[in-house]
Amino acid sequence: MSLKDNINIKQLPEHIAIIMDGNGRWAKQKGKLRVFGHENGTRAVRRTVEGCAELGVKNLTLYAFSTENWNRPKLEVQTLMKLLISSLKKEIKTLQKNNIKLNAIGDLKALPTKVHKELADVIDLTKDNNRMTLTLALSYGSRDELINAVTQISIKVKNNIISPEKIDESLINQHLYTRNLPDVDLLIRTSGEQRISNFLLWQIAYAELYFTNVFWPDFTNEHLYEAIINYQKRERRFGKTSEQLS
Ligand code: IPE
Ligand code: IPE
Ligand code: MG
Repeated sequence: MSLKDNINIKQLPEHIAIIMDGNGRWAKQKGKLRVFGHENGTRAVRRTVEGCAELGVKNLTLYAFSTENWNRPKLEVQTLMKLLISSLKKEIKTLQKNNIKLNAIGDLKALPTKVHKELADVIDLTKDNNRMTLTLALSYGSRDELINAVTQISIKVKNNIISPEKIDESLINQHLYTRNLPDVDLLIRTSGEQRISNFLLWQIAYAELYFTNVFWPDFTNEHLYEAIINYQKRERRFGKTSEQLS
């Protein structure tokens, strides 16, 4: 029996975000180089993307490369970028078959031209798909995103396009890289680390957090279902009392 049968399809998180962590440790455990972990991590990406789409999750956001990850050894960064290009080329079929739209958030200009171009191509090819939006966070940092938003809003204030009194949550939302996405409902982090690492700080304000010790390359759909079942057992009060909700 699959845990899938225990999921209440009517109460799925509308937006799941995942910090895919533990590729390096997974490889090390097997006596292999970190790169081997990243390669196997791409399989877990495909499984999870298909698993979410099949369930009916509308938005899946994957943290693939952070602004801080630029500080890793040059060879690892290069390998990750190459892997990204080959995965995009390879997975276009999976996206089309499953009617999934690709989206990207982050400081995309910082990515190598080849990655940038491949990404733009796949985003364009899948733009009319509407079963699920898959967002890749690439060269993404929440602080960078907030700096970017503040800069843009300041320019508009300076040019009298908006007045400071008009600055509210919705206006800030509109200036984030995630402008077209709803808030995160469920945030999953693999590998046992219990931290956010500069991911979607604004958007997870009321997300339910779920940490698992499984390393990312070992993350299966059963692990995904386990996280969703755990999420569905929680009471999301949004500041209210339990009595107010019922
Ligand atoms: C996550 O795995 C992938 C990226 C951050 C690109 P790691 O590479 O962080 O693996 P660990 O955490 O060192 O095991
Ligand atoms: C977070 O993982 C970034 C991604 C999963 C892409 P890291 O492995 O870089 O996080 P820290 O630095 O250990 O917190
Ligand atoms: Mg890590």
